[in-house]
Amino acid sequence: MKLSPAVATALNVQMNYEFESAHVYLAMAAYASELGLDGFVNFFQVQYQEEVAHAQKFFQYINDRNGRVEIQGFTTPQKEFSSILEAFEVALHHEEGVSSRIHEIVKQAHAETDYFTVSFLEWFIKEQVEEESNFHNLISKIKLLQDGAGLYLLDQELQTRTFKPIPAE
Ligand code: FEO
Repeated sequence: MKLSPAVATALNVQMNYEFESAHVYLAMAAYASELGLDGFVNFFQVQYQEEVAHAQKFFQYINDRNGRVEIQGFTTPQKEFSSILEAFEVALHHEEGVSSRIHEIVKQAHAETDYFTVSFLEWFIKEQVEEESNFHNLISKIKLLQDGAGLYLLDQELQTRTFKPIPAE
């Protein structure tokens, strides 16, 4: 069963948006670096790697379904923030947008009875729960620890985050 043109387009749009997300977080890593918060730099660098892995997952799936991958450009990410807290609030908002986009594609795939795509997107639905929860929890921590010493400790903690490749299915 070949991908319908509409679902192929939706998957391509999302693949490109995952690459765009990677750059959103790389810009945040650069901002954290300017603040001298190396743990936050590490956190955002890992997030960048995760987003590239998400994009690659779409890339592979579109190919597996004999669709045509179309790489596009994207908008320049925000690079200035009033604080590290604001960067995380922007990140959470971004992830909520990603979740909505994924849900829309699931709806579309259901409408077209494309259950291959519905099944493929289940991984992303679960992943988005984790993405939103991660940022939500970190926003709460940053609010609690906004003084210099607290932020320093959180910075140390984030230094330990590592990228875990997505296991092959
Ligand atoms: Fe790929 Fe953070 O969503």
